[in-house]
Amino acid sequence: MADESVAEAIRRARPEECDDVARLLAAAFASDPVMSWLLRRDERQDSARALMFRTLLRYFGFPGGEVWLDTGHRAASLWVPPARSDLKLPWWQELALFPAIIRAVSVTGLKRMDAFRAAVGRHHPKAPHWYLMTLGVDPAMQGKGLGGAMLRATLAEVDRQHMPAYLESSSPRNVPLYERFGFVTQAVFNPPPDGPPLWAMWREARIASA
Ligand SMILES: CC(C)(COP(=O)(O)OP(=O)(O)OC[C@H]1O[C@@H](n2cnc3c(N)ncnc32)[C@H](O)[C@@H]1OP(=O)(O)O)[C@@H](O)C(=O)NCCC(=O)NCCS
Repeated sequence: MADESVAEAIRRARPEECDDVARLLAAAFASDPVMSWLLRRDERQDSARALMFRTLLRYFGFPGGEVWLDTGHRAASLWVPPARSDLKLPWWQELALFPAIIRAVSVTGLKRMDAFRAAVGRHHPKAPHWYLMTLGVDPAMQGKGLGGAMLRATLAEVDRQHMPAYLESSSPRNVPLYERFGFVTQAVFNPPPDGPPLWAMWREARIASA
């Protein structure tokens, strides 16, 4: 487990740290099955991964969302608040992010991206909630309690607002971690035609302990 000093060092990221957070998340997700399936399948996949996270951070994190980082830049998370938990972007933002999407998935990947967004959208809860869009730990630091510390710190904020929370886990290995924090699997689904499984997980609202 991470010690208390690690947990205390978790804070909101600043907009100027966007690129650092994107690089950290790209490294954390280097072997993530869903990202690897979704992104372009050539020698530019690594830079596409960083671009995808930069894009998500810019459209859902800064401003309006909650991006959290530990002071050592080893763990980061992006939470989308209840007011935006339907994940809908105004049309002009959809249009503005399209070039980045094409670069990240390539033209041939656009069908996969559509299928992914549709499958994720079908399972996305309608009720307002905090959405954990992404959570990642530096590969060299995984398994040392940082991911848990990040969840503990950010869920304390969620609980202060007495709101439910939702996430999709892209790996079965993460499911027990999320269960330890009260998430329950609602469904397991595969984006068509051949996407890897995603675990849709929901956590009921709680009242924060004093
Ligand atoms: C998932 C992740 C955020 C967990 O953070 P962490 O600091 O490694 O995890 P902690 O040390 O706090 O907790 C350990 C638990 O995390 C889970 N876990 C997932 N991937 C792990 C990994 N690579 N190494 C160690 N534990 C991992 C296990 O359930 C583990 O519990 P166990 O030791 O009983 O098996 C981190 O491993 C990571 O960034 N993985 C790659 C990206 C990813 O999958 N992100 C989440 C997408 S839903």
